[in-house]
Amino acid sequence: MPTIHVIDADGAEHIIDGDVKASLMENLCDHDLPLDADCGGSCACATCHVWLDPDWAARLPQPGLDELALLEEEPTYQPGRSRLSCQVDFKADLDGLRVTLLPRR
Ligand code: FES
Repeated sequence: MPTIHVIDADGAEHIIDGDVKASLMENLCDHDLPLDADCGGSCACATCHVWLDPDWAARLPQPGLDELALLEEEPTYQPGRSRLSCQVDFKADLDGLRVTLLPRR
């Protein structure tokens, strides 16, 4: 089963099994990691904002315009690294994906 390496806001690393039928946000929430996803994955809140390791981010399709508009309003936005985790489909070829969670608002 593909894994996701998650660094929480305190710097602790969690390695979770990834469900390839779920988004990255759903995978994180299903493992009770500290991530809000207030709109439930509708690309409307940005509370599921995460940082991907840049090498991994470059392997994913670029954010859509709606996602990018929300991200750019975030004070912690990092171009080339920030994603809304609800907009990232977790696939088997993302085995080993490294994600950093941001402090909750
Ligand atoms: S859960 Fe709201 S934008 Fe991702």
